[in-house]
Amino acid sequence: MLDLYLFTGNAHPVLAAGVADYLHTPLRERVLDRFADGEVRVELGENVRGRDCFVVQPTCASPRATVNDNLFELLTMVDALRRASARRVTAVVPYFGYARQDRKDKPRVPITAKLVANLLVRAGIDRLLTLDLHAGQIQGYFDIPVDNLLPRPLFLRELAGYDPAELVIVAPDAGSAKINRAYADRLDCGFAIVDKSRFSTDASKALTLIGEVRDRHCFIIDDIISTGGTMVNAARLLSERGAKSVRAAVTHGVFAGKAFEKLAGSVFTEFIVTDSVPPRPGAPDIIRTISVAKLMGEAIRRTHLDLSISVLFN
Ligand code: R5P
Repeated sequence: MLDLYLFTGNAHPVLAAGVADYLHTPLRERVLDRFADGEVRVELGENVRGRDCFVVQPTCASPRATVNDNLFELLTMVDALRRASARRVTAVVPYFGYARQDRKDKPRVPITAKLVANLLVRAGIDRLLTLDLHAGQIQGYFDIPVDNLLPRPLFLRELAGYDPAELVIVAPDAGSAKINRAYADRLDCGFAIVDKSRFSTDASKALTLIGEVRDRHCFIIDDIISTGGTMVNAARLLSERGAKSVRAAVTHGVFAGKAFEKLAGSVFTEFIVTDSVPPRPGAPDIIRTISVAKLMGEAIRRTHLDLSISVLFN
């Protein structure tokens, strides 16, 4: 058995159990609940002095907690590990909340992704292991090692069954063009971009399509679905332009607000998400979840053994 100590917060126990299964290592004992006044209470159940510790906790909302609750659980667990003399603490954050607030896009707004990075480092993490950061540059907010895994191997497996002549990979906005083009190049299939205009945090519109999709199967790939506006509008545009079918593969299924209703009434025939975020009840049938437990688990194993993790990107 690996000599690492795996802990989890309350955000996503199912994913943490999957990671533990993969690593053949137990999730370590801890008390993690609330004091009567709602403050987070953490108490580690075992001695961690000199141990290589990993804490699995996506910082998204979960069925019984907010984004901020789950972030604070992570911070307090890290503080407890640090004060208990853990040798190394790695935050394993499959979904990094606040990642979309990564720049001052107008005056008098915070850069909250950087604030979260500061909080994690000040709490005492030595490394961050995360998945598909909204912007790769967020790695630069940390002056400690950051491993930003990508779902590419999982998504490529899903796309392997299509005839490249009939397939078009579609970027739902200009920001995701580079990543989507890399998929299209790898698969030697068609490529298209939707020109999206965003009016506010939660409202956007698909304006024009660059590329040919008529009579072809379209696959839209993105990092996050939140309100669903980006995806549903893009899919509608593809359908209007004669696409034979429209599917999606998205890393983080946040599904905020009326996202499920929008997807249920959309032209999508299939919508693949990973389990980086815990599932919400009421998902429409088109949603299929694939697990990142093995990917995260293997990255933890390699980190612990000081092995390269670049092989996981291929
Ligand atoms: C935008 O840059 C992101 O990659 C997503 O496309 C966006 O955040 C999704 O948000 P929503 O589902 O609310 O349109």
